[in-house]
Amino acid sequence: MSEKLRVGILGGTGMVGQRFISLLENHPWFEVTTIAASPRSAGQRYEDAVEGRWKMDTPIPKAVKNIIVKNVNEVEEVAKEVDFVFSAVDMSKDEIKAIEEAYAKTETPVVSNNSAHRWTPDVPMVVPEINPQHMEVIEFQKKRLGTTRGFVAVKPNCSIQSYAPVLTAWKEFEPYEVVVTTYQAISGAGKTFKDWPEMEGNIIPFISGEEEKSEKEPLRIWGKIENGVIVPADDVKITSQCIRVPVLNGHTAAVFVKFRKAPTKQQLIDAINNFSGVPQELKLPSAPKQFIRYMEEDNRPQVALDVDYENGMGISVGRIREDSIYDWKFVGLSHNTVRGAAGGAVLCAELLKAQGYITAK
Ligand SMILES: NC(=O)c1ccc[n+]([C@@H]2O[C@H](COP(=O)([O-])OP(=O)(O)OC[C@H]3O[C@@H](n4cnc5c(N)ncnc54)[C@H](OP(=O)(O)O)[C@@H]3O)[C@@H](O)[C@H]2O)c1
Repeated sequence: MSEKLRVGILGGTGMVGQRFISLLENHPWFEVTTIAASPRSAGQRYEDAVEGRWKMDTPIPKAVKNIIVKNVNEVEEVAKEVDFVFSAVDMSKDEIKAIEEAYAKTETPVVSNNSAHRWTPDVPMVVPEINPQHMEVIEFQKKRLGTTRGFVAVKPNCSIQSYAPVLTAWKEFEPYEVVVTTYQAISGAGKTFKDWPEMEGNIIPFISGEEEKSEKEPLRIWGKIENGVIVPADDVKITSQCIRVPVLNGHTAAVFVKFRKAPTKQQLIDAINNFSGVPQELKLPSAPKQFIRYMEEDNRPQVALDVDYENGMGISVGRIREDSIYDWKFVGLSHNTVRGAAGGAVLCAELLKAQGYITAK
């Protein structure tokens, strides 16, 4: 019998769900045993349920083709087969909140890609290299839910991954005012050019809810646990504009920063290149060896050349230069559906396993 932990994917037929299934093929610790989606897909073989809408570059993993898709809403049915679940369902925010807590209450940990619980005060929102200690709030959440092993943990929005880790690497220089414009890929909306032909040669200056997430989520990640909840940091101001651009995968951010302690360019580059965290220390299976790299060439990072850096789990930074109004400016790039979605959640689950929060039932 396999000693891997049994994983269910809620929303496994969708774009993020497909990315989870692809990333977990041959994972050393986790094995996809269960897939759940809407009643439209329930009862079908996975391969049939995604026919004509498989969006990954690699084929459907053999091991999951014949899994019979379950209904996400039949919580007990799914929960009894798995040790934990990844959540990537698309429902209303209230429905997602309720269903994720329902799974937690069956003593099934939920690692979610959704935004519904990102501001629930006792739910950790984690980038494992930045705030692994926030998982400690889970003990308080379990008390509220009345569970012994069930909880919800989330990863933050894809848009912040191209700059929040960089600002974290520069913490010693005390960044306090940040202006960011993001140039976001269409896969962030669950789309390819086939399903969204209007995006070819086009730019759309609006992504619903994205600017608020881009400005606020980094503050929660930099926050502290106080009295059983996460209290966001309040010493950095971020303002943002989020723009949809005709790119399949890869969110770019152009960023201006003011610092309280004036760094040199070399200090900024060294801080990026030397930054690492718990995932690197513990050598977690999905951890990039080098989390953030600095690229010296003026025309890098480029989406086409750099988005897959460290299998999509690393962040590429370039063009650090002095600014005439702010102190320094730079450009960052990350893979929105790998580091920014499913890959970030898989790394969170690996951290939770290493910390003892996810175990075999
Ligand atoms: N795409 C990204 O890069 C990204 C990044 C961050 C966060 N997100 C969030 O992640 C979630 C999934 O995104 P996606 O792009 O993968 O969406 P998607 O491709 O539309 O997939 C949605 C999934 O949810 C299931 N679903 C839809 N309605 C349901 C219902 N009423 N009951 C149960 N299951 C239902 C679908 O099942 P059927 O196939 O049976 O319809 C499918 O498995 C969304 O909340 C999205 O906002 C996406």
